[in-house]
Amino acid sequence: MLQGKKIVITGAASGIGAKTAELAAAHGAQVISVDINKPAKPVGEFIAADLSDERSIDELVARLPQGIDGLANVAGLPPTWPAPAVVKVNLVGLKRLTVSLVPKMADGASIVNLASIAGLGWPQARDVIQESNSLQLGDVDAFCRVHGIEGARSYFFSKEALIVWTMENRWTWRARGIRMNTVSPGPVDTPILKDFIETLGARAEEDMRTMDRPGTPADIAPVVCFLLSDGAVWIRGTNVPVDGGMFSNVLLQTSGF
Ligand SMILES: NC(=O)c1ccc[n+]([C@@H]2O[C@H](COP(=O)([O-])OP(=O)(O)OC[C@H]3O[C@@H](n4cnc5c(N)ncnc54)[C@H](O)[C@@H]3O)[C@@H](O)[C@H]2O)c1
Repeated sequence: MLQGKKIVITGAASGIGAKTAELAAAHGAQVISVDINKPAKPVGEFIAADLSDERSIDELVARLPQGIDGLANVAGLPPTWPAPAVVKVNLVGLKRLTVSLVPKMADGASIVNLASIAGLGWPQARDVIQESNSLQLGDVDAFCRVHGIEGARSYFFSKEALIVWTMENRWTWRARGIRMNTVSPGPVDTPILKDFIETLGARAEEDMRTMDRPGTPADIAPVVCFLLSDGAVWIRGTNVPVDGGMFSNVLLQTSGF
């Protein structure tokens, strides 16, 4: 499915990113794994980078080769981290990496961003999302203070804004055939699941009761690999929930069904 494609995967040291790297390589991709931590078993070439740091992102982009066919932005921080760190890694650093890498991408490349079902309430956050459009890494601390983005809200906000940014850029690179989509997992059994349950408390426990089981990285990675493949060329700017039916359940309940 990904034979001969050069695919960059961030967050490749753990969870969904590690599984995506493994599966992409099994599908024939030449994987470049990126993370702040060195993976125990790196897939392909490994490049260390801190996606909350402008200089580190720019050094990463300089080291990456021309002709990138796919970028999977999987790295992310849970809501137990300080709010500015969450917004930097999950949103602002991700956007800087993506936009800076476009000139090195091959025509027809695919970008896949890991959002979350935590981001599906984006229509309620329109104003602050719009204000974050041109946010730079150096401005994130002040932005969070001014807009009262603290605690778990940082995670929800980062994923809401990521879904909107992805939709907004549905046609930005259309002339070159470059497309971008998000994948929104429900609760997935990785090291950060306990952070979500800890932060969201009763709400997360209720969600977990509704589910038959939490997801696993193996439930998410195949969807990311499909979106990276040529089979998904006409899927653009959209968000794909991979959540065991959780979003449909919420949508039906809130719509009175
Ligand atoms: N696990 C879940 O329940 C769940 C649900 C919805 C969405 N997601 C999203 O999926 C993505 C992957 O999460 P996961 O569950 O595999 O978590 P994980 O903690 O297993 O993996 C996240 C990876 O991101 C890396 N990372 C963190 N900060 C970084 C930085 N500054 N620079 C570079 N790399 C950094 C970590 O080192 C880690 O390897 C995240 O974006 C997360 O928000 C996860």
